[in-house]
Amino acid sequence: MTRRQEFGFGLALLLLCTLGITGSLAATCSIGDRDALLAFKNQLTDSSGLLANWMKGTDCCTWTGIRCNAQAKVIEIYIEATCKGCGPNGQFLIAKNTNNFGKSLATLRPTLKTLALINVQVQLKFPIPPTFFTLTNLNYLNLESCEFIGSIPKELGNLVNLEELRINGNKFSGGMPDSIGKLQKLKVLELRDNQAPTLGSSQITLLKKLTTFDYQRNKVTGPLPKWLGGLSVGTLTLAGNQFSGPISPELCKLRALQYLLLRGNKLSGSIPGCIGNVALLFYLDVGRNMLSGPLPRELGKLKQLTRFLADNNRITGPLPREIGDLPTLFFIEIQNNKITGRIPSNYGPSDPIAIDPINFTNNMLSGPIPPGYQNLDETAFRPGNPGLCGPPLSNPC
Ligand SMILES: *[C@@H]1O[C@H](CO)[C@@H](O)[C@H](O)[C@H]1NC(C)=O
Repeated sequence: MTRRQEFGFGLALLLLCTLGITGSLAATCSIGDRDALLAFKNQLTDSSGLLANWMKGTDCCTWTGIRCNAQAKVIEIYIEATCKGCGPNGQFLIAKNTNNFGKSLATLRPTLKTLALINVQVQLKFPIPPTFFTLTNLNYLNLESCEFIGSIPKELGNLVNLEELRINGNKFSGGMPDSIGKLQKLKVLELRDNQAPTLGSSQITLLKKLTTFDYQRNKVTGPLPKWLGGLSVGTLTLAGNQFSGPISPELCKLRALQYLLLRGNKLSGSIPGCIGNVALLFYLDVGRNMLSGPLPRELGKLKQLTRFLADNNRITGPLPREIGDLPTLFFIEIQNNKITGRIPSNYGPSDPIAIDPINFTNNMLSGPIPPGYQNLDETAFRPGNPGLCGPPLSNPC
């Protein structure tokens, strides 16, 4: 190589390097985004160092819980502490003050699609920061187990791009506001383990994309609202509230329903026969209520049913033979009722290896155990049912 060639080569190399550097510079997070995140971090006590790599002078797109788009704009904040105030190996975050918590995140509005703060302890207990309801491009908002209080404000309706709202495990004491009806893209609505005394607005029925409505373990009293029948959901879980009165026939209108969980309420009356119209149901749990009357024959129309739980009620009458013909229903829990008569001979799978647990204890069943159940343990039938006989029980028929 001549000097001249060497010079040219060197220049080209230099040019390449510069291009490379500016190229990678262009892909690092903007000062605005970085500072917004640092200001947010500043509002948290992070003694376990969960956000230790959130440091000035580094690319915020590489920080824990942060994702950026191709233009290096922040699209996701997903911060998950493992527990609250836990031992030396736990990672926890505590909000320092109530004033303007999360306010700096407003800067990220144009691109932010995911905001998840899980187990972030809001020690001083305050409502969801108003700023969060200005993040109108959010698809996903998860504020699980943060100890937020108060009711969900009507500003929730601003988040028109939301597809999933998960606010389980807080201390919300109100139901859904009417403005929920504006969230036309919402698919998942979860408010488990709060203290809400009401479901709130029937406008939820306007959400035609909603597949999951989870309101377990709140403090809702009174009858199951009729408007529930207008939901388009596949999963409806209302367990662990204090709903009373009958399982209203309106629920039988939930034609997309696959998973219904009503366990642990104060529901009374009998299971309505129209439940057989909910053709896609594969999981039905009405255990731990005050239901009475016989099990309806129409349960036999639920060809997809794999699990049926009606334990700990006051159910009387015989077991409908139709249930025994269901092709995949092997898991049955009906213990602690007052069910009488024989177990129909078609109960239990034809292939005994495929058996799932059943529990028929503490009823008033009598007669021989059907062949499909003879491989089970005696504890599936005893205590209770003194009139049952034959294998696997020790008393012969
Ligand atoms: C059936 O239920 C009773 C009462 O809830 C419980 O004690 C027992 O362990 C259960 N048996 C089986 C086999 O699951």
